[in-house]
Amino acid sequence: MPPPADGQPPTAAPPSADGQPPAAAPSMTQDANAQTIGSYDQHAQRFIDGTPHEVSGAVKEWLDRALAGVPRDARILELGSGFGRDAAYLQGLGYQVRCTDATPAFVRELRSRGFTASALNAITDDLPGELDVLLANAVLLHFTRVEFATVLAKARRALRPGGRFAFTLKAGDGEGWSTEKLSAPRFFCYWREAQVRDAAAAAGFASLNIREVPRHTSGTDWLHTVATA
Ligand SMILES: C[S@@+](CC[C@H](N)C(=O)[O-])C[C@H]1O[C@@H](n2cnc3c(N)ncnc32)[C@H](O)[C@@H]1O
Repeated sequence: MPPPADGQPPTAAPPSADGQPPAAAPSMTQDANAQTIGSYDQHAQRFIDGTPHEVSGAVKEWLDRALAGVPRDARILELGSGFGRDAAYLQGLGYQVRCTDATPAFVRELRSRGFTASALNAITDDLPGELDVLLANAVLLHFTRVEFATVLAKARRALRPGGRFAFTLKAGDGEGWSTEKLSAPRFFCYWREAQVRDAAAAAGFASLNIREVPRHTSGTDWLHTVATA
């Protein structure tokens, strides 16, 4: 039986709507994000092979919205850069981007592609300050709700006044594990717009621009967000 489609309702939470079986049960001795990073580290090439390499459509619209009016000398940091698709798009627009990722294999991949990249775990590490833009495409969806709140607060402190935190999440309810795409377990937490608005306000963001968009590649609705400090 094939694994559940990406973005299907969580496998370790309420029964999935598509009737698929739960993903492999994760170990309870390691936290969910650490296990997810371990899966990326083991299967980084599978992720790279199975992911679009060009920025287009709703993701392009979201990145363009995040960068509207941002000067070319802005201080930009990306969390969870993966193999650098979004950073390449920004560089093509004339921006400098400091790439980071918590997965060692992705840091190596980024460096091999010529990006300035360092290891950074958004949950456990400090962020550098005085940022104009912080990006995180499909990264915070791997965090629990508590971790998400922690990272939002950290991001707010790292931004200059008027700075932007642009991030994307999968829309939905609950949380759980999926082996889709990597054939290894990744933890996902699903969000509704009202929950994101509450969390951003609690973290001290002044305003939030959020759009719910379908991504036809996964059949999942996404929340494309730009929070302004
Ligand atoms: C779905 S991939 C998205 C990668 C890239 N942003 C993209 O859009 O192609 C999730 C990324 O989040 C990274 N990640 C997961 N947990 C993280 C954490 N705690 N801190 C930083 N990055 C993390 C993974 O290593 C991976 O690169």
